[in-house]
Amino acid sequence: MSTSAATVDPARHVRGRIRVPGDKSISHRYALLAALANGTSRLSNYSRGADCLSTLECLRGLGVEIADNSTTITLIGRGLGRLGSPSGPLDAGNSGTTMRLMAGVLGGHRFTSVLTGDASLSRRPMRRVMEPLGRMGATIEAVDGHPPLTIRGGDLHAITHEPTVPSAQVKSAVLLAGLHAAGTTTVIEPARTRDHTERALLAFGGHVDADATGTRVAVAGGQTTLAGRTLAVPGDFSSAAFWMAAAAACPGSRVEIEEVGLNPTRTDLIGVLRRFGAKVDFHQTSSDAGEPVGTIIVEGDRIGRVDIAPDEVPGLIDELPAIAALAGHGGEVSVRGAAELRVKESDRIAVLVAGFRALGIPADERPDGFVAGKAGTTATGSGQADAHGDHRMAMAFAIAALAGGSPSRILGADSVAISYPGFFETLARLVA
Ligand code: S3P
Repeated sequence: MSTSAATVDPARHVRGRIRVPGDKSISHRYALLAALANGTSRLSNYSRGADCLSTLECLRGLGVEIADNSTTITLIGRGLGRLGSPSGPLDAGNSGTTMRLMAGVLGGHRFTSVLTGDASLSRRPMRRVMEPLGRMGATIEAVDGHPPLTIRGGDLHAITHEPTVPSAQVKSAVLLAGLHAAGTTTVIEPARTRDHTERALLAFGGHVDADATGTRVAVAGGQTTLAGRTLAVPGDFSSAAFWMAAAAACPGSRVEIEEVGLNPTRTDLIGVLRRFGAKVDFHQTSSDAGEPVGTIIVEGDRIGRVDIAPDEVPGLIDELPAIAALAGHGGEVSVRGAAELRVKESDRIAVLVAGFRALGIPADERPDGFVAGKAGTTATGSGQADAHGDHRMAMAFAIAALAGGSPSRILGADSVAISYPGFFETLARLVA
């Protein structure tokens, strides 16, 4: 676990026009599909967060030729089912997306591979992908359902998978395995989750069928039409979320974020911040590979309260830490139906509540959520909060700490590099 610390000074406003790093979810998917495609792909604005670099390292271990000239990642595709047998374990680092999506791909390859991760990833549940991939014909061994995963891929057959917990990672793992399977693989989810895999498959020349609600998705196996592409990764809405929350929480703020992804399966935060009392405008400026991209402007106006209901959680899963940060500024945040937060990079319910209390912000755990802040109070707390190596906890504490009466310390601050290298530099610019 990291011992790095950052100091965050109190600030009245955040102001400025910025861009955020490339989308983490989309970067993983473009790299994986580029590897499975025929021909060369060139990806600009690929996330340089550690998670997306882990995906590139795993692909290199599977024989994919990858060059990075600092603006563009170039990958030479090997073709569907044609990754090479690795000579050693593949390290997914801190990245659940790398491990779960890669498990789907490796399930379709007739060799044995081992996927490992860091201490945090080694605590995360993998049965949710092991079970459907096992039914498709892959053999996956784990340690009590946790990494490392030893995968013996094989001749897969199609299944219909109906997970009980909505998860884009599980859906994507099964769809990627489905590309390698005989027949048509279908995933039916209890709620809509981010649909980047579906959009990316189409962009790379594949076929995918989704119903109007987006909760039933099917892919046919043996899609050899996947072809290399030149694509630009949009800015990461989940990274922008922290600046959007900061602006909403500090009346008088105005933050404009350009070139950010506006995929509707990711943008529910906009409605939440409006409910809280912020002015939020956004408009699409372009679209790349079926992913809408545009500008978001958030102005802090009123400090209010927000209740997040269980059916809203799948659309906000990575934004809940940013929403929690509203509580530090005299807002009140209540979240239910978010037990999944306990199996993210950290137990985000426990870590959030402990960190907020350490910053002087009232907070209480629920089994499936939390309640934080007290509407109408002016928070002047400050202190030292431990992110427990979790990037989104570090960023949430930094935004909450802006409301402090004196400087606060964020322990484990260098974890922001998982998804947002440069986060603290951008913070310094916005408060200047
Ligand atoms: C992701 C899906 C979500 C999200 C994660 C990225 C993805 O996880 O929390 O940061 O890229 O598919 P789950 O699918 O486990 O909800």
